[in-house]
Order: sequence, then C-alpha cells, then structure tokens
Amino acid sequence: MIAPSILSADFARLGEEAAAVEGADWLHVDVMDAHFVPNLTIGLPVVQSLLGATAIPLDCHLMIEDPDRWAPPYAEAGARNVTFHAEAAHDPVAVARAIRRHGALAGLAVKPGTPLEPYLEILPEFDTLLVMTVEPGFGGQEFITEVLSKVRTARRLVNSGHLRLFIEVDGGVNADTIEAAAAAGADVFVAGSAVYGAEDPARAVAALRAQAARAASGSATAPA
Ligand code: DX5
Ligand code: ZN
Repeated sequence: MIAPSILSADFARLGEEAAAVEGADWLHVDVMDAHFVPNLTIGLPVVQSLLGATAIPLDCHLMIEDPDRWAPPYAEAGARNVTFHAEAAHDPVAVARAIRRHGALAGLAVKPGTPLEPYLEILPEFDTLLVMTVEPGFGGQEFITEVLSKVRTARRLVNSGHLRLFIEVDGGVNADTIEAAAAAGADVFVAGSAVYGAEDPARAVAALRAQAARAASGSATAPA
C-alpha cells in the first residue's frame, strides 16, 4: 500500500491535495505537537474536515505527547488507522485497545533509535507497526537504511505466524529507497516529498506501488 503524506502538500488546499493522489491506499496525516517533535502541524479538527473531503482512508500518525489521552478521538472520528509512538505512550496496550474499540486499526510507531525487542510482547495488540526511517518531525529527510533490520525482524515474525501486522515505513521513501524497504518486508510505504513533489502525484503513487511490488515479489517468491 502507498500512503502519500500530506505533510508535503499545500495545507491551504488539503481537499484538492487529497484528490490529487486518487488511487492512494491510505492518506497519511502527520499530527505533530511541538513537544514530542519540534514541529507543529495539524490536529483533530483538520482530520475531521479531511474525513468529509476524501474517500481515501486516513492513516493518522500521531507524533505527540500523551497519546493515552489524545489518540482515541482520531479513531472515534473515523480514521482507518491510528498510530502513536511507543516512546510517548504511558500504557500502549490500553491506547491500542481504545483505538480498536472505536473501530480503527491501531498502530505502534518506533523512532530510528528505538529497538523493537521491548515491544514484541505487546505487538499482538496492534494492527500496524510503523518503523520510522528518519527522525520524526520533518519531511524531505534522508532514508536511514540501518533501520531496515527492524523491518526484517518484524517480517520474519509475521511470516512465521507469530504476528499479524502491516509493516509500514515512513521517511525518505522514494524511487531510490522503496525497493530496499519492500525487499526487507515492508508492505505500507509512506511518501511525502516523493509524491507531492512530483509533477503528477497520482502517477507517482502508481509508480512507487509498482516498484515496491516488483521488489517484494523478487525477494518473496524465489523460483523453486
Ligand atoms: C516525518 C513524517 C513523515 C514525512 C515523510 O516525521 O512522519 O510522514 O511526511 O516525508 P518524506 O516522504 O518527504 O520523507
Ligand atoms: Zn508520518
């Protein structure tokens, strides 16, 4: 799945910018609070308006302190997936359960320097694992390849039946990096500048999806 990040879109024209990525699987919405990350973006009222402006399911990525208090309302509003940061949550399992109770998928995000191991035990409570491939806070940064070892670990656990998860990568995903992420086992790809910086964003989505699919099948289906 390809999830264009509206962080790279024109915030004064969000409805049109959503329409410009027709065919996208999820629309990625970066919520930043100027505390968990230095940047400040948008919050629940804008998400509510977007929900009325597009049929593309919303993938809300909350880079905020205290998701215990602030995450469930995004699910209640109608987001398809609500992801919050492991580093910020006091009781991640309770947050995931509240999100699911409101009918959304629950996602756990980890920053590049955050190991997966302490969270493996609680991952069955989640539908999505978001592996940050840049430091959260800004679009247009360079992809950190080393982080893909976490994607490989998660993919092994999913393929062996120990977990059921979407494995999402976010940050620096573009035509040069998406194949490595797909080969490592990611199946949801967030792309901000690579989509909204393109002349034709919808075509960029289709091209990225095709590229990821080729790379994934190359690694997953070795000839007998
Ligand atoms: C960064 C955000 C990303 C960002 C990705 O903190 O979580 O979703 O929009 O932007 P690009 O694809 O430009 O790296
Ligand atoms: Zn994001």
